[in-house]
This record gives sequence, C-alpha cells and structure tokens, in this order.
Amino acid sequence: MLRYFAMNILISADDIQRRVRSLAQEIHDDHPNGVHLVCVLKGAFVFLADLARQLPGVATLDFLAVSSYGTSTQSSGQVQVLKDLDAGLEGRDVIIVEDIVDTGLTLHYLQDILRARAPRTLQTACLLSKPSKRKIDIKVEYVGFTIEDKFVVGYGLDYAEQYRNLPYIAVIGD
Ligand code: IMP
Repeated sequence: MLRYFAMNILISADDIQRRVRSLAQEIHDDHPNGVHLVCVLKGAFVFLADLARQLPGVATLDFLAVSSYGTSTQSSGQVQVLKDLDAGLEGRDVIIVEDIVDTGLTLHYLQDILRARAPRTLQTACLLSKPSKRKIDIKVEYVGFTIEDKFVVGYGLDYAEQYRNLPYIAVIGD
C-alpha cells in the first residue's frame, strides 16, 4: 500500500537549477576540452540530465548502476555493481556524477574501482553532501549543497523507490 508523508521542501526547484548551472560552469572552466560523465544510477539520473544540458563544452555520458546493501535509510558500505559502464575510461577526464554522499562508503568504493581503469583524471560531482555522517575521508570536487543529517527525497532521490520524480529536494516526515 502507498503511504503518503508530509513533505517539507528543503531546496526548491529554482535553487537547484541555479546551483546546477554554476556547477556546470565550474566543471567547464576546469575542463574546457570536455568531460566524460559517469552517472551513478538510479539516484543521479535527474542531476546528470540537468548538469549535462548546462555544460557548454563537449560531454560524453555513461551509466553505472549500484545498490548499497543496508536498510532503506542506511547504507552499509557493501556495494554491488548491478550494471557496469559500457565503455572504458583509459585516458579520459572522468567525473562521477552522484546524488548524495552520506557515509562516503559507496563513493569510496566507486572511486577505487574507476581509478583502477586508468582515467587521465577522476573527479566527483555530488548534488548533496551530509558531512556529519561521513565514515571515511573522501574527496568530492563539486558539491551542490551541504545539508544536515536528514533523510531527503526528490530530484532523483528515493524512499523505497518513491519520490524520485519530485522537482525539489524534500524532507519526509509523518
Ligand atoms: P553512502 O554510501 O552512505 O555515502 O550512501 C550513498 C547512497 O545512499 C546514495 O547514493 C543514496 O542512494 C543513498 N542515500 C544516502 N542518504 C540518502 C538520503 O537522504 N535520501 C535518499 N538516499 C540516500
């Protein structure tokens, strides 16, 4: 049965669009010759779509699907690759595009496996970061918004596969 929760908007659709535009400009300034964007499915699909369309330069795309084992609101750090990239990364300027960095365990694992594929450079763009939950020190070059330790949904992020289609970021509560 579907449950409906009260939604409190944390970041509006307009604020997200403005921030994504400036992140795209930063990425373009750092990589004027173009980038290879690696989207971490499913959560980053909306961020990737907006970021890619705001990038003024050349951008190629690839997709990776992962699942973090754990409860629906807590990551365990055990990551399973459900769908691997279609193409190699050798010699490319790669940017991992992720929805949120929480404990950092998922991203740490991904950075390790992708670095082993010999990209020329490897950087990470995350729409959201919850630094208070970090369990491992991790480098994220492009962060959209730093948020408190609250479970958020929308703009690609889900709770039990719901709410990914919201155009804003919200905190759910009863
Ligand atoms: P980490 O390994 O703890 O950094 O968790 C990363 C993954 O957990 C993200 O890619 C999300 O899929 C999920 N996640 C963490 N926090 C949230 C949240 O507040 N809402 C929805 N998903 C989240």
